[in-house]
Amino acid sequence: MARAFSKSLMDLHPRELKGVIKDIPTLPVIYQELFRKMQDPDVSVPAIAEIITQDQALAAKVLHLVNSAFYGYARQINTISRAVVILGFQAVRSAALATSVFDFFKEEDGQTCQLKKFWEHSIATASICKALAPRLNINQAEEAFVVGLLHDVGKLIEKQYFSTDFDEVCKAAQELHLSWYDCEKALFQTNHAGIGKTVFREWQFPPGVVEAVQHHHDPSTATRAPHLTALVHVADFLSYELDYGAPGAWPPKECDPLALRTLGTTLDECRRFLPAVTEEILQAMEILKLLEPVPA
Ligand SMILES: [Fe+2]
Ligand SMILES: [Fe+2]
Repeated sequence: MARAFSKSLMDLHPRELKGVIKDIPTLPVIYQELFRKMQDPDVSVPAIAEIITQDQALAAKVLHLVNSAFYGYARQINTISRAVVILGFQAVRSAALATSVFDFFKEEDGQTCQLKKFWEHSIATASICKALAPRLNINQAEEAFVVGLLHDVGKLIEKQYFSTDFDEVCKAAQELHLSWYDCEKALFQTNHAGIGKTVFREWQFPPGVVEAVQHHHDPSTATRAPHLTALVHVADFLSYELDYGAPGAWPPKECDPLALRTLGTTLDECRRFLPAVTEEILQAMEILKLLEPVPA
């Protein structure tokens, strides 16, 4: 359902955002609980399974996911504990997050940019973040995946709440060969990264995660979590090279050299990891199945 506002992003000051976007759904408690629990390296499978079982809709989605053809199990998996073992904590956590966020941002007919492509870009960025993190000695794989998955959530808010502005950016970006961010900079006082910050704060994510979303297009301004921010910036850039770019605009012109310096790497070094990431991306794409209704 579109929730258009009378106010346009063209005359909306960033400070006014919080007041305008106030009916963003709260992230279900269950997700917060999973996120918190999974930060504990000693968390057990039964503990995670117990949280999931509390939410029938999520439990059904998790079973649907694990029984999908991709995992290739001949026998039906029908317990959550077994599903958690097979899928792994991160896939389960992503499923929980995706269920919450996908359900709110549903595709409508006849819209300019395709939501499925948007999620593919998000999942690819998340998978690259996750794969690069340990190789670049970043000890925040969980946070990196979440930031990658939702770094562009501000675009979904634009699509739902400011649909005229959203269509305007799509059109202008195509005509002027601009990236989404550059086009927003030309048209508005705010952008999807700033909107993402507002949403992530509302969802009570840790400050470093909020900052990485806020500065994923200007990573050198990050002070609290410069590595996480640089990582999502580089992963976002690389997703275009793997043909998983965000729909509706042109690819970013360059990967910020300061971000690469912060990470102590080069673009070529990161590119060398990409073939190994492809399988990971395909596996993570399975969460797109959550967009489909669960068969009765
Ligand atoms: Fe972005
Ligand atoms: Fe992106």
